[in-house]
Amino acid sequence: MTNSAGPNRRVIAIDGPAASGKSSVARALATRLGFVSVNSGAMYRAITWHVLDRGLQPHDREGIARLVETTNLATNLHEGEWRILIEGADPLPHLRTLRVNEAVSSVSSIPRVREILVAKMRACARDYDVVVEGRDIGSVVFPRTPYKYYVDASPEIRAQRRAAQGQRDQIAVRDHADSSRSDSPLTVAGGAWVIDSSSLPIEAVVDEILRRLRAQSFFGPAAKSSRITRAAR
Ligand code: DC
Repeated sequence: MTNSAGPNRRVIAIDGPAASGKSSVARALATRLGFVSVNSGAMYRAITWHVLDRGLQPHDREGIARLVETTNLATNLHEGEWRILIEGADPLPHLRTLRVNEAVSSVSSIPRVREILVAKMRACARDYDVVVEGRDIGSVVFPRTPYKYYVDASPEIRAQRRAAQGQRDQIAVRDHADSSRSDSPLTVAGGAWVIDSSSLPIEAVVDEILRRLRAQSFFGPAAKSSRITRAAR
């Protein structure tokens, strides 16, 4: 069994619940390492937008599976971030709408949707070194990577963060659905390093991950590591 990444490619997995700060942490970490950042939640949101746009109900599991199988899903790299295009269109403006927030847990619980998106993520990791964030990245998508993190924060802080972003998002409802589904639920992957970001700014979380990566010899032998560590600062 492989890491599902290319032979010389590295994967850093960052999982956590909604609004835990993991997206910002993943992006900042990827920038500091020169890795590609992959936001898997945005991929599930993109599919959800497409499903709603085509008039399907979020609980129509068979209809959604058929739609996704016949949808042209291209990917591209934009300023270090890996993005999915739906039938050639960039779904970005629609990803954070209330409709998508309300439907995404249901759509993302459909196994066929997950299979298709997981294959895309693994294909990306064959081409690039990646920081991938989501719910099941360390447990299911890249179980063999030694670099697994779980970013958490208290429910109160997470609700405050969403409100500060001006978003209406029932994060407790999504967390329950995402943690209790049968396929690839949100979980702390075996071997993951748990970080509570409740009282930490993003950069402090990134620094903690970089410290841990250094302890895991991520930067290689000492002579090499000083150069890469500086680049990562
Ligand atoms: O990270 P986010 O809140 O943008 O994710 C939106 C939804 O996508 C989340 O409620 C569940 C789903 N998701 C998933 O099922 N698996 C992932 N790896 C990432 C997100």
